Amino acid sequence: MSKNGFSKEFLWGGAMAANQVEGAWNVDGKGMSVADVAVYKPDISVEDFYAHNAMTSEMIETALSDKDDKKYPKRRGIDFYHRYKEDLALFAEMGFKALRVSIAWTRIFPTGEEEEPNELGLQFYENLFTEMRRLGMEPVVTLSHYEMPLNLSIKYNGWAERKVIDYFVKFSNVCFKRYKHLVKYWLTFNEIDSIIRNPFRPGGIILERCPEGKQEETIYQAIHHQFVASALVTADCHKIIKDSRVGCMITKLTTYPNSCHPNDVELSLKKNLINYFSSDVQVFGEYPKMIEKMFERKNIYIKMGPEDRDILRKHTVDFVSFSYYMSLTESANEELKRTSANTITGVKNPYLPSTDWGWQIDPIGLKISLIELYDRYKKPLLIVENGMGAVDKVENDGSIHDDYRINYLREHFKQMKEAVEEGVDLFGYLSWGPIDLISVSTNQMSKRYGYIYVDQDDEGNGTLDRSRKDSFYWYKKVIESNGEDLE
Ligand code: BG6
Repeated sequence: MSKNGFSKEFLWGGAMAANQVEGAWNVDGKGMSVADVAVYKPDISVEDFYAHNAMTSEMIETALSDKDDKKYPKRRGIDFYHRYKEDLALFAEMGFKALRVSIAWTRIFPTGEEEEPNELGLQFYENLFTEMRRLGMEPVVTLSHYEMPLNLSIKYNGWAERKVIDYFVKFSNVCFKRYKHLVKYWLTFNEIDSIIRNPFRPGGIILERCPEGKQEETIYQAIHHQFVASALVTADCHKIIKDSRVGCMITKLTTYPNSCHPNDVELSLKKNLINYFSSDVQVFGEYPKMIEKMFERKNIYIKMGPEDRDILRKHTVDFVSFSYYMSLTESANEELKRTSANTITGVKNPYLPSTDWGWQIDPIGLKISLIELYDRYKKPLLIVENGMGAVDKVENDGSIHDDYRINYLREHFKQMKEAVEEGVDLFGYLSWGPIDLISVSTNQMSKRYGYIYVDQDDEGNGTLDRSRKDSFYWYKKVIESNGEDLE
């Protein structure tokens, strides 16, 4: 361990998802995914983006007949599919040690149900991982990041149907065999807990198709299927790739009580326990007692296969990864003003500033999250998303002075370092969207996270040229100094 706390092998880098960067939605045999029907609505308010993300059969029908990629930004992404070499070269210039990407399931199995994989899709990721390795970047690969085949959503209501486990296991098996010499670090499902808050994007669930009065039960049934699938592919990965490391991935929604009133404390405690539900299952290999009690109270009945509990118990993860953008506050008083956060809302915290999208900036919350996660699981941790979505201004000379982003990151790095010095086993930091990409929640381009600017607006106009922001040079120095030079 070096004197600043980060190990020499610390994985500095960035993270992205196929559906937010690749574009080329109908190229080289790719099938349609649930991300390809996500519509950009120019006048939507931040508060409304939940409704914006709910998907109906009618919206899907409209999207299927609409070939336009202006309205569906994830169809065009930032054209990473064709420009990945240029982008990887820029990441390498910053000194990235690792890069998190995801595999679009629909490039490999366009409808999810094919007998044989699509060779062109497989070849694309082989080229991508080979180039990453050539540049000295460790690939960290997510198997499912918000983009299952649309066909599986339409035909089976997505993960609500148990059969989807088999399709996912097959897809993953093909990936492990093909990339076994290139990829060691795998994540099964991005933010696996998010299906509870947003059933379509990660789970392909169209709520109106759920049996009457059974929406919540259907969602928990779907996450159960994802848990089983995750455990099965973890086992398969360990078998095929001997030195592989498989991680779970959660949305870390650290929640504070709004006051020391015991009602507020109890409420925030329960919110935090719900947040730990999925990682508890994937790390401890069993459902938390309190979740099972909640199911009983709500008359939620989860159908389990005879071996499911055994599968979950046997095939737990090697490490825990998570996204962290902001903290939340909760109060028993329902009248209090609330603010937006990542797929959720919380009571406004008077001690914290917010981004333009209402997400409350809380670097200490990152340290708290790291300490809590490590204390709970005692597994190595990997931060696989963190960053600040902001509007950037391009000056006349082409420069972009994003000091707000640098400040956000600097303060988070200080806390991260303190957590490591307090004993947390953190082996990497992959910031979200090292290059500007399409926002998952709002489908905007103008919500930018990158060190690299992409010339494209919300409607898809622009040259797609890449340019370096001030934060590019700053992050380069951070990596060069292994987290020591933060000025
Ligand atoms: C995470 C997702 O929830 O947050 C990413 O895994 C997403 O895909 C990121 O992009 C930031 O959210 P947004 O809404 O700003 O894109």
